[in-house]
Amino acid sequence: MSDVPAGSIGRTIIAADDLAARVAELGAEITADYQGRRPLLVGVLKGAFVFMSDLARAIDLPVELDFMAVSSYGTSTKSSGVVRIVKDLETDIEGRDVILVEDIVDSGLTLAYLRSVLGDRRPASLEICALLVREGAEDSGARYAGFPIPPDFVVGYGLDVAEHYREIDAIRVFEPE
Ligand code: IMP
Ligand code: MG
Repeated sequence: MSDVPAGSIGRTIIAADDLAARVAELGAEITADYQGRRPLLVGVLKGAFVFMSDLARAIDLPVELDFMAVSSYGTSTKSSGVVRIVKDLETDIEGRDVILVEDIVDSGLTLAYLRSVLGDRRPASLEICALLVREGAEDSGARYAGFPIPPDFVVGYGLDVAEHYREIDAIRVFEPE
């Protein structure tokens, strides 16, 4: 087990019912945009797992799911931008309508890397759906974006600090000691 990170859980930035309402809207948008198609949702583990499961149920279309896991070298609260694929897809995405589902776009480096790796596999289309986009981040390129988020490090709804607090049902600030 990893040690409890030094710090505390602070204010709630996005309450559970606001998350639910926005996810429902994103699901409705995707439903409208992908009529007659069967999109493949690609979740980026582990942070996207809660968002992905709610989003999949908010889309009123047949969808398929797959997951990737990447590890970015860096400290627990700062990404270095160097990304390694730890778990690759099981699905051949050539010709598929792929929606990459991310928890948060921070620097955007993870997403830029994944977009290029997946784009090389010749999907019919490739869009990004990110729950959170850091304010001031370069254009995230996310066609679907849930909420802008201030500079604070946040946890909950799948997001962690050193593997803790993913299970919290809201987006809350983590205040390091
Ligand atoms: P990027 O490559 O800088 O965009 O970093 C994206 C990844 O960093 C996300 O998928 C998260 O795993 C992690 N991350 C960035 N900011 C936060 C945060 O505030 N809380 C938890 N994880 C974060
Ligand atoms: Mg993470």
